[in-house]
Amino acid sequence: MIVNQPIGVIDSGVGGLTVAKEIMRQLPNEEIVYFGDNLRCPYGPRPFTEVQTYTWQMVRYLLRHHDIKMLVIACNTATAAVYEQIKEALSIPVIGVIHPGARSALKESHTRHIGVIGTVGTINSKAYVHALHDIYKNVVVTDLACPEFVPLVESGDLNSRHTRDVIRERLNLIKHDPKMDTLILGCTHYPLLREVIKDVVGDKIQLIDSGEETAREVSTILYHKNIKRKLETKPHHIFYTTGSPSIMGMIVQNWLALFPEVNTVSLEEI
Ligand code: SIN
Repeated sequence: MIVNQPIGVIDSGVGGLTVAKEIMRQLPNEEIVYFGDNLRCPYGPRPFTEVQTYTWQMVRYLLRHHDIKMLVIACNTATAAVYEQIKEALSIPVIGVIHPGARSALKESHTRHIGVIGTVGTINSKAYVHALHDIYKNVVVTDLACPEFVPLVESGDLNSRHTRDVIRERLNLIKHDPKMDTLILGCTHYPLLREVIKDVVGDKIQLIDSGEETAREVSTILYHKNIKRKLETKPHHIFYTTGSPSIMGMIVQNWLALFPEVNTVSLEEI
């Protein structure tokens, strides 16, 4: 029965866990099936045609094996590259992370001068700039690609001296607008670097992580479509990775405080 089926969450790697975590917090009775394409991460520097192919492979895998009732594309690069196409093609609700992030930033910003950091693919696509302008046409947006950040997160290096130096050096390039009061973490990996980013940009700039707003949108859709999970048994979340199940398992354990079932999926299977 559709109501009791899981919500599919996909990402290029572990970054989407920041969104999954927020969904679990806001909707503790829902079951999640998560797919991280860690072997081919990062998506950020790849051509969009490749990101489209890889993202579709994850979507088809989840549809085939779990008949998911909703799909969350918890990766900004994939959202920028293929969200519209997937949304058009599927009969289940599909949510990306860019519009929720833009909405949340405009809600929080007083000056309406907003910064966006993301992968090369996301920043070059201008998806955030368009989303922000669609909501409020006079917003001033400064954006910056931070290609070094995702590899730091995927390697688990969240707070070393090297990480802090890399982040400081990169973010010095975006701090020039004195009116900027809000910075969108336009990549779902970046919330894992939140403490260091916060130290570098200072207290006057608030950080926006689209996970919270995305989870709220998931909740609204489940409610309006009347497809909230009705079972009272504890949800059993399942994780898939094209990479190392032990690394994914360790990150899930540290980050979500779960002892997860992690399955490896080879590229031949997708
Ligand atoms: C990446 O795979 O490069 C990052 C994922 C994202 O854009 O959120």
